[in-house]
Amino acid sequence: MRIYKAKDYAELSRRAANIVSAHVIIKPNCVLGLATGSSPIGIYKQLIEWYKKGDLSFAEVSTVNLDEYYGLPKSHDQSYDYFMKSNFFNHIDIDHNKINIPNGLAEDVEVECTRYNQLISSFNGVDLQLLGMGNNGHIGFNEPGRAFELGTHLVELAPTTIEANARFFKNADEVPKKALTMGIKNIMSAQKILLVVSGESKAEALKNAFQGPVTPEVPASILQLHPNVTLVADEAALSKFEI
Ligand code: GLP
Repeated sequence: MRIYKAKDYAELSRRAANIVSAHVIIKPNCVLGLATGSSPIGIYKQLIEWYKKGDLSFAEVSTVNLDEYYGLPKSHDQSYDYFMKSNFFNHIDIDHNKINIPNGLAEDVEVECTRYNQLISSFNGVDLQLLGMGNNGHIGFNEPGRAFELGTHLVELAPTTIEANARFFKNADEVPKKALTMGIKNIMSAQKILLVVSGESKAEALKNAFQGPVTPEVPASILQLHPNVTLVADEAALSKFEI
């Protein structure tokens, strides 16, 4: 694993954005696996800036997002579809037909999960999968204790995740209790993984993920077994890490 230690969130975002943009420049039709949450927002802002300067084009890029809340319409301002459009897609030249996000309103969840798994397989491993990490070590919405071998599936969110994400809703009651997420199996099929972690609240989970055992209790720990992981984290997130 390659580790970049950034002094703060701004430096972290710039460093990680550099890695994403390098992929797009080297392979203009690359497939990017994308994430939501507060961690990647700075990366998206930086990429938008470079696009607007004319340094970068996403015209041929395809994207596949990690997850989506179950039961929220796309128009809801906390749906991940809405998040991706407002924080990234609506500000760049991406072809909206090349954007893929699980359908949180799918009538038949099984059919939707199969569709998403087939889509990911058809890409033959996304070129670069961007990941954040929850306070409890979750990646995508793969919560602690879930099996590592799952593909895309419907998940019950952990109480800690509902609590953590309540800051984006009016209150915890409004946070959806379920989500569709790529499974660990899908995530591990990526050619390369870029994990961004910021803030002291993630320090313990980050240490456990890379300096503890590989266990479903810490979903991100599976990344120890991926051959090509880059971690970009700020000093606060790395404060418990023994380098
Ligand atoms: C959500 C998302 C994850 C994300 C996590 C951390 O639960 N499903 O993909 O990594 O939140 O979010 P944040 O970056 O806001 O801490």
